Amino acid sequence: MSKGFFISCAIDYPNANLHMGHLYEKTIADVIARVHRLNGEKVLFTVGSDEHGEKVEKAAHDAGYSPQQYVDNMAMLFRRLFDQSLISYDRFIRTTEKSHVTAAQVFFQSLFDAGDIYPDLYEGWYCVSDETFWTEKDLVEKNGAKLCPNPHCGKPVERVKEESYFFKWSNFQKPLEEWYDHVPANVFPEFRKKEMEQFMKDGLHDISFSRKSLQWGIQVPFNSEHTIYVWGDALVNYLTVCGYPEKYADFWPADIHVVGHDINRFHSLLWPAMLMSAKIPLPKQVLVHGFVNDERGEKMSKSKGNVVDPLLILEKFGIEPIRYYLLREAPLGNDLAFSEKNLIERNNSELADGLGNLVYRVLSMLEKYCNGVIPDIQPDGQILGQASLSAQESYRSYLSHDIQGALVHAWKIVSLGNKSIADSEPWKKMKDGKRDEVEVLLVTEVELLRQLSILIQPVLPTTSDSICAQFGFSTPTFSQLSTTPPSSPRAVKKGSVLFVKRELPAVETK
Ligand code: MSP
Repeated sequence: MSKGFFISCAIDYPNANLHMGHLYEKTIADVIARVHRLNGEKVLFTVGSDEHGEKVEKAAHDAGYSPQQYVDNMAMLFRRLFDQSLISYDRFIRTTEKSHVTAAQVFFQSLFDAGDIYPDLYEGWYCVSDETFWTEKDLVEKNGAKLCPNPHCGKPVERVKEESYFFKWSNFQKPLEEWYDHVPANVFPEFRKKEMEQFMKDGLHDISFSRKSLQWGIQVPFNSEHTIYVWGDALVNYLTVCGYPEKYADFWPADIHVVGHDINRFHSLLWPAMLMSAKIPLPKQVLVHGFVNDERGEKMSKSKGNVVDPLLILEKFGIEPIRYYLLREAPLGNDLAFSEKNLIERNNSELADGLGNLVYRVLSMLEKYCNGVIPDIQPDGQILGQASLSAQESYRSYLSHDIQGALVHAWKIVSLGNKSIADSEPWKKMKDGKRDEVEVLLVTEVELLRQLSILIQPVLPTTSDSICAQFGFSTPTFSQLSTTPPSSPRAVKKGSVLFVKRELPAVETK
């Protein structure tokens, strides 16, 4: 039996509430998971929370909770947000789960047994916010303070001097280079792959892989004074969800790890080296998305007060316009400048006036001219031919991670549908007694909507369900794109309006 399709998201730190950037990542992965389900594949799609480490321990302490109470509460909030956002995850993994603790320890032991873990003294810098070790030369100096060099962090680093177990990352320089040479899209998009190749050129250095001063973590299996470095614990979640250390080949190797570019290095250089040491096959692809910034393109941060709270946006617009906007606005891989104005514009023109209006017009005309029954007549082959080309383009775009392109092509069908109605002026034709021509038009429109119900399903699942229910289409699969079902006269059921138009925010005056 062939292996199932496994797509994972980064597991989020529960030290603060999730923001739009987190939701963006989960939505991208959700769409890809749905695409593969529509292709008839068995899919495992995972999200979760990365609950150990100094950062989470501090956040719990500051909030006046024990770390366990704190992460229990945060994990519940994360799940709630994902559930409200139509993230169709199959498994929410928490790194404090017993199954994961066992997996992380067995994995650590296997690196040790392979001779790739050794004790030494770590002396250097640590960024708690990033949970990353840095050398002196990496740091940014500002007004005498030493800061984390990650442009998305920039927080002050701590001096650390303690005994530590190291992982021999340097051992894997050559095998990693070979992997990069032989597997074209192991890191996607290409410019993110180049960044990793550049990083490797400076040489990989062994990395501190345990903390002696930190209690809130998973114990090193053979030394209870140490906890496993939080990344050495967190990355193993991808194996835990597949059943490691027991039977895990039903879904492993992972097909896609979806991550932001700030943690690309951990996924595209450290994780594969760890897997090589453990003699476990490598993931097929790390898919690196861009960042959601504020509308000026500036990094969101609490201090600037420009962080977008997904819960507020959800309440205001509902989830589907947000999903559509996030994926339609920028190509995957590029950063996105989050703008409510652009969201409203897309909602009003592409969703409400475009798709929503098309559905409404077709249903209204079926009711008015055909007693609410789809007529039994041959559709217009020429229009369907055009639509079919766009449908195939849209499908191909989905498969190559071009979700924006998939939507652009699907919306060509929306425009074709609206334009065909405007051009043929069915209301005049009815007056002129050309009922047959109107029926051909309507049957053609119904077929366009059937194709659209399939193509929009990954991004707008609720809308797709609603269209299917109103027109009596069967549950979408991609295989139905290339076959038009035989005409079956059936009654339609007009539902409520699909998208509500929104007021644009008032323009600020100086
Ligand atoms: N816990 C680690 C990941 C461990 S995976 C084995 C972590 N957590 S995080 O909460 O900081 O980030 C989770 C994901 O959200 C990462 O992929 C990160 O890149 C992404 N994002 C965080 N801020 C983001 C934006 N502003 N925009 C888009 N994605 C962003 O890193």
